[in-house]
Amino acid sequence: MSSKTAYVQPVADSLSVFKEGIFNGKVLFCTGGGSGICKAMTEAVMRHGANSVIVGRNLERLTAAAQELSKATGKICLPAQADVRKPDQLKSAVAKTIEQFGRIDFVICGAAGNFLTPISGLSENGFRTVIEIDALGTYHTIKATIPYVRESKGSYIHVHVSAAKAAVDATSAVLAVEEGPHGVRSNVIAPGPIGGTEGMDRLGPKGTSVSSMFLGMPVGRLGDVKDIANTTVFLFSDAASFITGQVLVVDGGNEHLRTTQLPYPASVLDPESVKSLIKPRL
Ligand code: COA
Repeated sequence: MSSKTAYVQPVADSLSVFKEGIFNGKVLFCTGGGSGICKAMTEAVMRHGANSVIVGRNLERLTAAAQELSKATGKICLPAQADVRKPDQLKSAVAKTIEQFGRIDFVICGAAGNFLTPISGLSENGFRTVIEIDALGTYHTIKATIPYVRESKGSYIHVHVSAAKAAVDATSAVLAVEEGPHGVRSNVIAPGPIGGTEGMDRLGPKGTSVSSMFLGMPVGRLGDVKDIANTTVFLFSDAASFITGQVLVVDGGNEHLRTTQLPYPASVLDPESVKSLIKPRL
């Protein structure tokens, strides 16, 4: 992956399974919406009628993405600069959303920080940074938006990563229980390997053989941002009105590869013992 523009992927042609206009009059608030998977999620929701506010640290990137999304969907997308680690900045982004649109129906807590390093190379500040972005950032986003989401009886979706995954899952589950009576649903989308994203570029296997490494996946391909975008539209739609507090794994069956393999890595198995366990077919 050599160019940042390679991360920009239109999702339009994959959405015909959903009815047009199901999100007319709705408003999406998406942290991390300036690029990658969250940008595709935003586009998908906008193509079904919603206006949106995308939130991130880099105003230049956000502004370009917002213009692109508005043009592509015919709806309004506004950029709002905020670091999810800074509650006051998030509050300002929410205030801007309310000032412009008067409501928030859907929230995607998508802003994430991640990098690959063994624990020997991980400083206390490095660990804290990821927790602050993923876990605390999700908390700050929920705190800032919940009064408005309650009013409109909308939904949360959290994209979670790395060490903060368990915290985000637990936060979402409790939110689902607490806010259910107020008409708010909360679900987590857990994406598997998604091709052409910054995350895959930075965290996935290096080199040209990325696709081939995943040919062994049950569906025989890497994920696409469209897969996550379609899931987002489904979860925000009324079709999912009885689904809350769930972690929806969207990974082409990847997680089950582990459970359907031999119980120990091949490197620690004695080949002769394994052979003796395999009964010849009669
Ligand atoms: N390996 C080890 N430590 C790392 C690291 C790496 N690859 N990258 C950052 N760190 C450490 C830094 O050394 C620093 O710790 P220190 O002060 O003890 O040296 C700490 O993490 C904070 O780094 P900094 O660059 O100051 O933080 P930031 O707020 O500017 O950036 C990150 C946040 C680190 C998460 C950065 O990777 C980022 O912004 N990523 C973009 C978004 C992203 O990751 N998206 C997810 C795609 S899946």
